[in-house]
Amino acid sequence: MRTDTGRIVHLADYRPTDFVLERVDLTFELDPTETKVEARLIFHRREGVDANAPLILDGDDLTMTSLLFDQIEMDPARYTAAPESLVIRDLPESVPFEITVVTMINPEANTQLMGLYRSNGIYCTQCEAEGFRRITYFPDRPDVLAVYTINIIADKAANPLLLSNGNFLGGAGFGPDKHFAAWFDPHPKPSYLFALVAGDLGVVEDTFVTMSEREVTLKIYVEHGKEPRAAYAMDALKRSMKWDEEVFGREYDLDIFMIVAVSDFNMGAMENKGLNIFNDKYVLADPETATDQDYANIEAIIAHEYFHNWTGNRITCRDWFQLCLKEGLTVYRDHEFSADMRSRSVKRIAEVRHLRSEQFPEDAGPLAHPVRPTKYREINNFYTTTVYEKGSEVTRMIATILGRDDFKKGMDLYFERHDGDAATVEDFVKCFEDASGKDLKQFSLWYHQAGTPQITVSSTYDAGAKTLSLSLEQMVPATPGQSAKEPMHIPLRFSLISENGAEATASAISGGNVSGDVLHLTDRAQTFTFTGIGSRPVVSLNRGFSAPVTLHFSQSADDLGHIARYDSDLFARWQAITDLALPVLTDAAKSAREGTAITTSPAFIDVLLAVAADEALEPAFRAQALSLPSEADIARELGGNNDPDAIHAGRQAVLSAIATAGIEVFRALHDAHSASGPFTPDANGAGKRGLKNIALSFLTLAENTPALAAEAFARADNMTDLSQALTILAHRFPDSTEAKEALAAFETRFASNALVLDKWFSIQATIPGAASLDRVKALMGSPHFAPTNPNRVRSLVGTFAFGNTTGFNRADGAAYGFFAEQILAIDPRNPQLAARLLTALRSWRLLEPGRADKARTALTTIEASTSLSTDVRDIVDRILK
Ligand code: ARG
Ligand code: ZN
Repeated sequence: MRTDTGRIVHLADYRPTDFVLERVDLTFELDPTETKVEARLIFHRREGVDANAPLILDGDDLTMTSLLFDQIEMDPARYTAAPESLVIRDLPESVPFEITVVTMINPEANTQLMGLYRSNGIYCTQCEAEGFRRITYFPDRPDVLAVYTINIIADKAANPLLLSNGNFLGGAGFGPDKHFAAWFDPHPKPSYLFALVAGDLGVVEDTFVTMSEREVTLKIYVEHGKEPRAAYAMDALKRSMKWDEEVFGREYDLDIFMIVAVSDFNMGAMENKGLNIFNDKYVLADPETATDQDYANIEAIIAHEYFHNWTGNRITCRDWFQLCLKEGLTVYRDHEFSADMRSRSVKRIAEVRHLRSEQFPEDAGPLAHPVRPTKYREINNFYTTTVYEKGSEVTRMIATILGRDDFKKGMDLYFERHDGDAATVEDFVKCFEDASGKDLKQFSLWYHQAGTPQITVSSTYDAGAKTLSLSLEQMVPATPGQSAKEPMHIPLRFSLISENGAEATASAISGGNVSGDVLHLTDRAQTFTFTGIGSRPVVSLNRGFSAPVTLHFSQSADDLGHIARYDSDLFARWQAITDLALPVLTDAAKSAREGTAITTSPAFIDVLLAVAADEALEPAFRAQALSLPSEADIARELGGNNDPDAIHAGRQAVLSAIATAGIEVFRALHDAHSASGPFTPDANGAGKRGLKNIALSFLTLAENTPALAAEAFARADNMTDLSQALTILAHRFPDSTEAKEALAAFETRFASNALVLDKWFSIQATIPGAASLDRVKALMGSPHFAPTNPNRVRSLVGTFAFGNTTGFNRADGAAYGFFAEQILAIDPRNPQLAARLLTALRSWRLLEPGRADKARTALTTIEASTSLSTDVRDIVDRILK
């Protein structure tokens, strides 16, 4: 493991390599514990580079057994080999030369799951960001592009399958028990896109005919027996390929596209050229084992990795500071894809909920960083929601500012100008400036300034003059390393809704740049005046969440109710409902904390129930409206000195009031959607199940008995209904016989399906209350738990830390202590997993002083360890700073 070197990498230090890599030939002799890797690398010195400059190759934990220069053993005086680098001196001034390095690696012992490792008997790789250097010495950086030929030799019986990037060249027997296969990838690529898979797997095959009539073979590899569960992933893949042709004009560029599902994987999936490797959680689905959320995730992630072929692979990143260039853009593309496949507004609501619950806290806390950072200590810690999701929002704003046509021209120009390049964010933005003629200099601050902009809004209507003035003031909060901020260019979609619900149009607008329905806030403070407005309108601002900002706009409950009823933008309607709910929930939390009576405004309940019962609205939208802001949302709104128990109690009281008032509405919804006909995993079916299940949850609250949920559990014919019923039973009646029996039945029924048991772990890890810590500890002793499998750890420890506010933050701090022990135990095995889990404590300063103090103690315990990985050291230092 790499322990911390304290080294910090700066964007300002970027310079190209001294040597140009021309080609790469790798030969793997696979063995579970002693794999031999021979790398033949052809280099030449870059023009103008000093003749004495040495060749420096990256390594991580490597043992070299031989080094040849132009096929002849190299004089040891000419090189220095260390586990983390290989430095070679006295190299030719101008002619190309060949270096042959042989390293020995141990895939079985690779518990970090970076580089070449074994998962359930399958050899697989993960090289992004810096995993390739754990395979061989190499210029392991994204701006070194080369053409690769791969030879794989392995035991034939155990590894009938030998896969790598590109096209299959051929294979044959190799001695009595072995065989080999050769692969060639004609597209120059950086090392992080290298992949190798070997083992024995089942396959699902299909074909796709591209827009220029080329037939592409599609293969999804899964464990034997799981082939039927790959059908949905295959369908999602074909729809992704078609969509990218139709919407972005992008065609696939090899004869074969492969996906391999593995069960031990640190993240969601990886876009290796022609050979994507996936966490099996994002491939396998059938109605009996996958929820609607699982189906939606599979569709989105299959699309995401496929879309990387153009945004990431054909055009890659110059350096890791440019990560958002591929990730933000590709998330934007997968969001658009899902919006087209499903309901656009409902998808947007879900995106914004996710952004607010994950990215906003990151941007407001000690880990805040710009979408395009300028320094890092451990790059793995920058695969964040800021780079991904805020990066996507920044791309979306470019589309909003330019409009559909110019945005498309800009994308086309980007693909044309930079195909084959390792590009920068500046290159990307320049394409949109050149395509549209618009200046995006101020806009680019979105890449460089961290923190969520706060916008204070006020409006006044002058009946005599028939004018509406809208005053806006922006403030970007200070973030680590950035105390003073410049005003940003913030595109805000708006509508003026008149009394009868129709849209009012102004005869003139002054005070700033307004194009169509987009108001461009560019100054620190600006007042827009709309003239010719006959009666006082209600202002609907930031429609569709056109900018990732927080609005502080004290609109009356009447105005919000008006938007909730009339806005033609469904997102804005949902936002208005949320804005009505938040003060009710924060008041309830305050009352719970002070021990005073909790009251819930009847007006708010009326609006909510009217939406719930409105058959003109799609079920998925109604389900979103009924899913009130989460405890984390309320904590964020309260802003500090938070008591998670009071927030929970207050929210429960509000839910109960809604349940009691709406019992008839919920009964009707539940009954109407209970007999829903044959299962379909599409958005329509999912929406109906979502509405039915939230109705069940309210009904159960109103009746306060486990009977209905127990019945639903017994009746369920799909995993969404089953897991929802189980959640209601376990969370509301944890000590009831019904809950205990259902948990046991679920465990028995799915005993051989680890992915489903993850749900069983998560449901129990999120049972509210202080007792959950003991439950989590007991579950770690379950035979289904495996401390080395990231999915298991995330579903139990991760879900507890991120998703159980009352349990994790129990007042005595015991859960923090447990958590620190877990981090210290996981870190030596898998630093990436440990570091990611640790971010659960990033908002500790928002807790009331008693808990904050205990959280600090736990963090200090971690910090005091002398053997932390760079990953965990980086996070703990920043969180405590
Ligand atoms: N590029 C992959 C994706 O977007 C994720 C790789 C994450 N790598 C890491 N070291 N965290 O799907
Ligand atoms: Zn990605």
